[in-house]
Amino acid sequence: MSLKNDVQKYYGETLKTNSDLKTDACCTEETLTPHLKQALAVLSDEVHQKYYGCGLVLPEELEGAKVLDLGSGAGRDVFALSYLVGAKGHVTGVDMTKEQIEVARRNIDYHAKKFGYNNVSFIDGDIEKLDLLQLEKNSFDIIVSNCVINLVEDKAKVLKDAYDLLKPGGEIYFSDVYTDRRLAKEHQVDPVIRGECLGGALYWNDFHRFAKSAGFSDPRIVTSRELRIEDDQIKTKLHPARFYSVTYRLFKIPELEDACEDFGQAVRYKGTLKTSPSGFVLDDHHFFEPGKWESVCGNSYLMLKATRFAEHFDFIGDFSTHYGIFKGCGLNVPYQATSGEQNNNGGACC
Ligand SMILES: C[S@@+](CC[C@H](N)C(=O)[O-])C[C@H]1O[C@@H](n2cnc3c(N)ncnc32)[C@H](O)[C@@H]1O
Repeated sequence: MSLKNDVQKYYGETLKTNSDLKTDACCTEETLTPHLKQALAVLSDEVHQKYYGCGLVLPEELEGAKVLDLGSGAGRDVFALSYLVGAKGHVTGVDMTKEQIEVARRNIDYHAKKFGYNNVSFIDGDIEKLDLLQLEKNSFDIIVSNCVINLVEDKAKVLKDAYDLLKPGGEIYFSDVYTDRRLAKEHQVDPVIRGECLGGALYWNDFHRFAKSAGFSDPRIVTSRELRIEDDQIKTKLHPARFYSVTYRLFKIPELEDACEDFGQAVRYKGTLKTSPSGFVLDDHHFFEPGKWESVCGNSYLMLKATRFAEHFDFIGDFSTHYGIFKGCGLNVPYQATSGEQNNNGGACC
């Protein structure tokens, strides 16, 4: 049987609900804002029970957005996003497992009645062949995915195709499982270890390489946590590898550089995002308080200025003068200083 058939069998037949899982991957521990709590509280019991994700893929500023969910499963995130994008937005889910798509489709009416509109569609399809699904290039504001890309063989192609589908300034905002090393082949193909989203987990540095070669020059971590493997046999087999559930955001902004460069720019959050009046989290090392000017590197500047977040910020500066690497982010000058101040060759943060 192929790896794909193994995955379909696991999600279509073996797992009945998320209590059958052997890790705590889907116990998303992130703190929910009241707005997100509400978006999840209105969903049907069935889509909650068949939720197999590993993180929260509900970013800010979604109203009216066109969203694509890669490996949408029984549709929990699609329906939550349907609520958040509102009647003027649209959410498309793609999944290759018949039983999962059936659950999602039979829950469309329930949610349409609750919300007063239907703005979702589900496609039976393979996300490794996104280019063949007749989705329009440059048409999505946001692509989400929750614990899926680890399951596919050609991860680099999924990222490249997703890049093509995003509008300029759009982003992939997705949660997945990563490891601290490349895993042995026997573990990569083990149907249970793979089905549990561990066998296909990427070594984090390989993921960064794939993302960059797909055009996402500066992958940003939003949240990360180590996973607990609850099944002793699996734990012993995989020891000492460690696994992490990580939510990344990857912006499609061709001007992004592969390092944080300093152009003397600054931004100020206006506090106008309806869901985040007291501060905006761009990633795990950028929190913007309303009214406070913050120095940012050229990449962070663009992530705010060239995206749907622009109207919520004031901006100072341009790219006309370069002041070197952004201090505290990335490496400092990597050469020996001859005199005076030592080059502080600190660790990377972006
Ligand atoms: C761990 S579940 C997550 C489902 C959903 N995102 C959620 O959070 O509940 C993985 C899903 O990815 C789907 N999947 C895996 N590989 C796929 C592929 N190549 N194309 C489409 N769907 C895929 C499976 O069918 C399954 O529904």
